[in-house]
Amino acid sequence: MKAPTFYHITDLHLYAADEIGSYGKYYDLKAQMDQKCMKESCAIIDGAFAEMAADKETDVIIISGDLTFDGEKASHDLLLQKLQTLKDAGKRVYLTTATHDYNKHALGFTDQGTFKVEQYPREKLRELYADYGWQEAVAEHKPSFSYAVKIFPGWRFLMLNDDGDGEAFCGFYDDLLTWVKAQVREADEQGEKVIAVTHHPLLPPTKIYPIFSHRDMLGGYETTAPMFADIGIKYVFTGHTHMQSITHLDTVRGNRLYHINTGSITGHPAPYRKVTIETDGLDVKTCNLQSFDWDLGGKTVDQYMKDHFTFMLNDIFDSMENNIDHFKELAKGFSMDAKTVDRLRPLIRMLGKMINGVTFKGLAKMFFVSNKVDPAAANIKVRDFMIELISNMYSGIRQFPPTSKEYRSFMPIVKRIGKVIRLTDYYGVKVELSDLFDDLLYNVGAFDNTNAFLPF
Ligand SMILES: [Fe+2]
Repeated sequence: MKAPTFYHITDLHLYAADEIGSYGKYYDLKAQMDQKCMKESCAIIDGAFAEMAADKETDVIIISGDLTFDGEKASHDLLLQKLQTLKDAGKRVYLTTATHDYNKHALGFTDQGTFKVEQYPREKLRELYADYGWQEAVAEHKPSFSYAVKIFPGWRFLMLNDDGDGEAFCGFYDDLLTWVKAQVREADEQGEKVIAVTHHPLLPPTKIYPIFSHRDMLGGYETTAPMFADIGIKYVFTGHTHMQSITHLDTVRGNRLYHINTGSITGHPAPYRKVTIETDGLDVKTCNLQSFDWDLGGKTVDQYMKDHFTFMLNDIFDSMENNIDHFKELAKGFSMDAKTVDRLRPLIRMLGKMINGVTFKGLAKMFFVSNKVDPAAANIKVRDFMIELISNMYSGIRQFPPTSKEYRSFMPIVKRIGKVIRLTDYYGVKVELSDLFDDLLYNVGAFDNTNAFLPF
């Protein structure tokens, strides 16, 4: 028998610009300042749906929330049309919604400014997307819009909605956790394995992530992740971070949770996953969008998406040093709030100053470690290197192992800076800067972030 396969795609953030009537200066500004390709989102989603539809081997597609840019009614309506094309191609789509599907920030943009646009209330979303998951549900947790579905024989998928209160807390309330436990028990009695799907991450995609964006983790993830492993959930698929990572947690009771976090299809590097359920484990492969109907100026999709991302990063680095108020605006795009910017202001300014215009050699000199810099790496610009590291954080690729000239030259500087700057995590516990950078330079985890085989 052929091994079952499914696609996982997430954070579509579709923006129906034409239907909303967005154009002009403020639209250009908004689109430029976003990690995602907002203007291209419709074409990108069409391209991705077409690639998945063309794969006759795989008829299951899982989507883990943030379907629209900011919950615009027009974007939902347009997405429903696009989902219908998947259905017409014989695909079974199972989705959850997330906070960007109903938040209060839905806007249109013009040359003059912004305007509010119509939204669906959250209560309407389950009904709106009933054909994409709920119609096959074997059980529902109605208050949260979560459901369980037997997508393949012997496999129960828990499609969990983690909206929480949609503001300060995104996570699972106790009644939902009780429902999850009952579902896992029932699956066990029926000889089924369980895969959970939700929007927010239960494990950080990188060590640095919860330091800057703790509130972007699933609320209470510190206890929920081990609890999931210990009740028998082995795999969880998530989105939200827009980053590619495959990580795992081994609990004190000896249970393992694999965490597959997939980047946004409308952001660099336009990824989605293809998963094959083998007899001894899950084989997870990354697909990157190959083409979409847009003037790419002769670039490949990969280069086009990366250039959009790099433009934004350059803007960020300029503002870190020279314009902290503009940085605050940009920081919203990667979920760092104004309060955090104020808290870290001296560090941000210092980092900005160091990053802009300095080479490895120059930076090493500042920190009295010139002798540690490999001459072959001396002229690498710190700014270019940082852009590469951040870009890699999103793509999941790590290419600077401890043997590389970049690692050998850069890490002594980081270690020295770590002695000057005291960095703490969300709970105030000291964090080593070198640990955070180690994790960005090379793959310190057991699994490759892009493609991995995850045994049962
Ligand atoms: Fe998102």
